[in-house]
Amino acid sequence: MSELEKESCAKRLKDYEVKFIGQDRNGIANLYDTWSATTYEKDIDAVDHRGRFVMSEKLARVFQGDKECARILDVGAGSGMLAEELLNKGFKLIDALDGSQGMLELAKSKGFYQNYFCNFIEETQGIIEDETYDIVCSLGVIGPGHLESAALGQMFRVTKPGGLICISGVKERWDGDPEYHQRMRSVIAELEASKKLKMLDDSTVIQYYFYQYWHHGVLLLMQKINS
Ligand SMILES: C[S@@+](CC[C@H](N)C(=O)[O-])C[C@H]1O[C@@H](n2cnc3c(N)ncnc32)[C@H](O)[C@@H]1O
Repeated sequence: MSELEKESCAKRLKDYEVKFIGQDRNGIANLYDTWSATTYEKDIDAVDHRGRFVMSEKLARVFQGDKECARILDVGAGSGMLAEELLNKGFKLIDALDGSQGMLELAKSKGFYQNYFCNFIEETQGIIEDETYDIVCSLGVIGPGHLESAALGQMFRVTKPGGLICISGVKERWDGDPEYHQRMRSVIAELEASKKLKMLDDSTVIQYYFYQYWHHGVLLLMQKINS
């Protein structure tokens, strides 16, 4: 990709971030439907996005069981870029969940996943059974209009006791909106205080993606306590 093309892809990615502001779930799904049908993957690659490599490496390192038998739910799976890296690390059984049908169609064309759920995670009660997954992960879905605080409760619900929950995204989107950040942190703090969840890692990922300068990321890795 030429430098000029890179710049225009990166610019489009930033324009989408602006379009997401103030959208409800339908608006978000429509935007991702359009993006998936056009330039999504090219735009992500143009900013040298490291999120999928960082998260897959972390999960492969920390997960203690048999990777080939571990059931994983990829929340906001998008086109399957994280799943590709998880498969490269030896995981095999990954389900995709995404509110955008367009994104899921793109993911389906790659054949990385076992099952596909076209839903927002906040609305999965009655759709995904409790304690189904060894790992529930979500990459790049942080921010208002994306993962909301109710998402954390659902991610916790569908995780098996002892299982891992991993969330990662752009730091500016995680703590750039103080009210959003507070809503997310309070759910986590409550689960920790009631000894249902243990924080294993809560860190800043240096050099997450590059557009004009290096933007940092966050990665939260939690374990559902075996009660
Ligand atoms: C920036 S993309 C990230 C996709 C993929 N995880 C990756 O890293 O390439 C965000 C995706 O999350 C989906 N999404 C946003 N909010 C969601 C939610 N609350 N539940 C499920 N999917 C959601 C969008 O439709 C979109 O496909």
